[in-house]
Amino acid sequence: MKTRIKNERFLNRVVTADEAAAMIHHDAILATSGFTGAGYPKAVPEALAKRIETAHASGDPFTVRLLTGASTGPQLDGALAKANGVAFRCPYNGDADMRARINEGSTLYLDMHLGLVAQKTRQGQFGRPDVAIIEAIAVTPDGQLILSSSVGNSPTWLQTADKIIVEINTWQNPDLAGIHDIWSGVRMPPDAQIIPLLHPGDRIGSGTLPIDIDRLAAVVVTDEPDRNAPFAEPDATARQIAGHVMDFLEHEVKQGRLPPSLLPLQSGVGNIANAVLEGLNSSRFENLTGFSEVIQDGMLSMLESGRMTVASASSFSLSPEAAERINDNAAFFRQKIVLRQQEVSNSPELIRRLGIIAMNGMIEADIYGNINSTCVMGSRIQNGIGGSGDFARNAFLSLFVTPSTAKGGKISAFVPMIPHTDHILQDVQIIVSEQGLADLRGLAPVERARAIIDNCAHPTFRPHLQEYFDYARQHSFGQHIPQSLSAALTWHEHYIATGSMLTHS
Ligand code: COA
Repeated sequence: MKTRIKNERFLNRVVTADEAAAMIHHDAILATSGFTGAGYPKAVPEALAKRIETAHASGDPFTVRLLTGASTGPQLDGALAKANGVAFRCPYNGDADMRARINEGSTLYLDMHLGLVAQKTRQGQFGRPDVAIIEAIAVTPDGQLILSSSVGNSPTWLQTADKIIVEINTWQNPDLAGIHDIWSGVRMPPDAQIIPLLHPGDRIGSGTLPIDIDRLAAVVVTDEPDRNAPFAEPDATARQIAGHVMDFLEHEVKQGRLPPSLLPLQSGVGNIANAVLEGLNSSRFENLTGFSEVIQDGMLSMLESGRMTVASASSFSLSPEAAERINDNAAFFRQKIVLRQQEVSNSPELIRRLGIIAMNGMIEADIYGNINSTCVMGSRIQNGIGGSGDFARNAFLSLFVTPSTAKGGKISAFVPMIPHTDHILQDVQIIVSEQGLADLRGLAPVERARAIIDNCAHPTFRPHLQEYFDYARQHSFGQHIPQSLSAALTWHEHYIATGSMLTHS
């Protein structure tokens, strides 16, 4: 233990997970580390879930309000959701049990832009966190934390929470020390500072994080892996989408609109986004850089091959096999990867100034290119907006990628009107499906509709979308964005009633 915890005052506070969980009371605001299944606390939330189950079995109320960096894993979101112990959850969630609680209405969910959560916490939007639970790999002799596989909102949680619980996870490779870069210049307006970052690889802060030891309530030692889930092998659809993106980027370079090494790349979550990165790894582009919120397998492969020189993010989101590669080669990756707090990795100002090429997944788009990334049939949350809004609005090039159909071809990813909007058409420049690519830049709404229907929609649904568009042009209240309000959403109602959009006409 002393090789990981090199400070006496931390050593004096080592307790069991059950003892630490006993410090958390009903209705507490918990603020935890963790981002896209990496670097979240494990032992204390599992112990807390057991406490909650015991309280419920005795008829006592026990729930917490949970703030995180982004998605966590089965030991945190999963365990607390199974115990029905979360009254309120913010922001992004990817856990199936938590998703079920949110969709049944027993957990309230506030889905926000990931880059905003820290500032809104300092503004007091959620109330002052009662307890921060932060995973780290080690404590330095002067009592500073070396975080683990994500940074997320941990700097803000440590500054704002009444009580701090630290989990030292010996499963995490100690060689990750040096990968983090935590900027200490965050101030609230009117004293906000310019983030002094000019290149994705710049280091502008410190590799360790100071904590107020007077608020340190407990230290718990664990040895549990992150939730690393395998990515699906890219199928024909994913490879076609990746191919269209590659052709587009090559064309932009030929036209002189992008430099030969492109601009820093952001890639969203999901299998398709990962497939695009794998495609880039076998492209002709060289000296690529990444400025994203997560490092996925595809970006890791590019760093290993030398296709990408450096990548900046807030966390890893890796398959178990890629996590092993990081563990085996941490000293190499430490030179190539910078992990930052999400307030910096997702800073709109940096995204705009660095000129990011943003590529994100989606649930569906309307024919004008408004995007729904989060709510299936307008009401059932899938994950959340994550950083897609931070990046899409401010990117130099904003691409959304999707298969043209879902649920075995029964649902069209392109519909007359989306029942929930995450990204307005002004923030959506390029849409890509396996059918092709719609370059929407400089087009008016009706021109966008033609490009999306002709290039991206599946041939089965294309005539129906064209028919809708023609009908809307005849019956619309205005001709700027022609719509028939009554006809548009029947696509979704029809799916809910019959299990297919196919029979819609
Ligand atoms: N209608 C209904 N359901 C749909 C659908 C549609 N148009 N499109 C997808 N789905 C369903 C899928 O069938 C699947 O359901 P299942 O879990 O029951 O199997 C689920 O939604 C996820 O779809 P999948 O194709 O597996 O998703 P993905 O891994 O490519 O991810 C998003 C797509 C939109 C869910 C994902 O990109 C996301 O969460 N985006 C928002 C956050 C984000 O962009 N973050 C990155 C910022 S850096």
